[in-house]
Amino acid sequence: MSEPTYKDSMLKEDALKGKVIVVTGGGTGLGKSMSKYFLELGANLVITSRKVDVLKKTADELSAETKGNVLPVQCDVSDYAQVEKMLKEVVEKFGKVDVLVNNAAGNFISPTERLSNRAFDSIINIVLKGTYNCTLAFGKYWIEKKQSASILNIVTTYAWTGSAYVVPSACAKAGVLSLTRSLAVEWAKYGIRFNAIAPGPFPTKGAWDRLLPGDMKDKFDLAKKVPLKRAGEHQELANLAAYLVSDFSAYINGEVITIDGGEWLQGAGQFNMLEAVPKEMWDQIEMMVRKAKSQ
Ligand code: HXC
Ligand code: NAP
Repeated sequence: MSEPTYKDSMLKEDALKGKVIVVTGGGTGLGKSMSKYFLELGANLVITSRKVDVLKKTADELSAETKGNVLPVQCDVSDYAQVEKMLKEVVEKFGKVDVLVNNAAGNFISPTERLSNRAFDSIINIVLKGTYNCTLAFGKYWIEKKQSASILNIVTTYAWTGSAYVVPSACAKAGVLSLTRSLAVEWAKYGIRFNAIAPGPFPTKGAWDRLLPGDMKDKFDLAKKVPLKRAGEHQELANLAAYLVSDFSAYINGEVITIDGGEWLQGAGQFNMLEAVPKEMWDQIEMMVRKAKSQ
């Protein structure tokens, strides 16, 4: 048998057995990959987003692949009434809900001065308002039912550094990060845990078409910015997500885990640019530096 790698599933069989998990934006990209793994680990899944045809196709595909239960529910997370309706449908179908993954997002690159106020609103409404809408509706339900539960928020590494050209997304993700840490404390007394994952580049059609359109994918190969010189594999993110929503992480609360191969630190360290110095130049550089002592 070959040795397991980051491309393999990590948790033991049935690690999520019996849990009912809602993944917003679960029809595509990383939401779909996390959903698939949760199903493989025995969870009952609900995937939600605006495009019902996409959801139904994904639900059929995932249930055929995993033999698990997947319920597709159309829900625009920026509309609180739709979120309440979605929650009701989930509880009617499965009798309970244990985990919410706030994964739905909207984003595109643009110089900020080119944005209309509605463009700014549209991102904030999906990412920040969508996350607090779902969090509030599910939280009120769990508190009333006296049920312990867990919320996993998907942010980005620029949630704390900020980033030019994706300013509405950066503002919204910073808000989600703050929501994660604030409620991790406030709602711990109700047995509700909050954690977040900050992914670096994980290729998905949704993100790449909006952030690196056309030949920008080749001009700005994000893998080159990562010290480990590769993009993320969906399974390694799914492994982390499954752990954080499982009871194996019961004492982890309020944490944000970066999974980016060291990408954001690469940009942050003052002298990280010295990576570009060829190995053979270091003898000469050392000599020059040592000379400083005698001058
Ligand atoms: C300027 C733009 C624009 C653009 C849209 N708008 N695209 N402005 N440049 N490229 C403006 C519109 O003209 C409109 O303003 C306003 O934004 C809302 O646009 P709509 O199309 O009406 O909104 P909506 O249908 O809600 O679509 C939302 C969306 C779309 C974000 C614009 O792209 C979407 O549905 N995205 C969902 C999936 C997604 O974004 N995935 C990527 C996630 S990646 P006006 O004034 O004209 O009315 C991510 C992090 C990645 O989050 C980090 C990578 C490392
Ligand atoms: P994606 O495939 O485009 O996923 C975004 C999902 O959000 C879509 O399924 C979309 O479905 C849904 N969505 C958008 N607006 C919605 C709304 N108003 N209500 C409900 N659902 C809505 O992109 P992705 O790359 O997988 O991104 C997933 C998450 O990872 C996001 O939180 C993103 O910020 C984060 N992330 C991704 C990367 C990366 O490299 N890929 C890096 C850092 C963080 P509909 O259009 O059907 O609504």
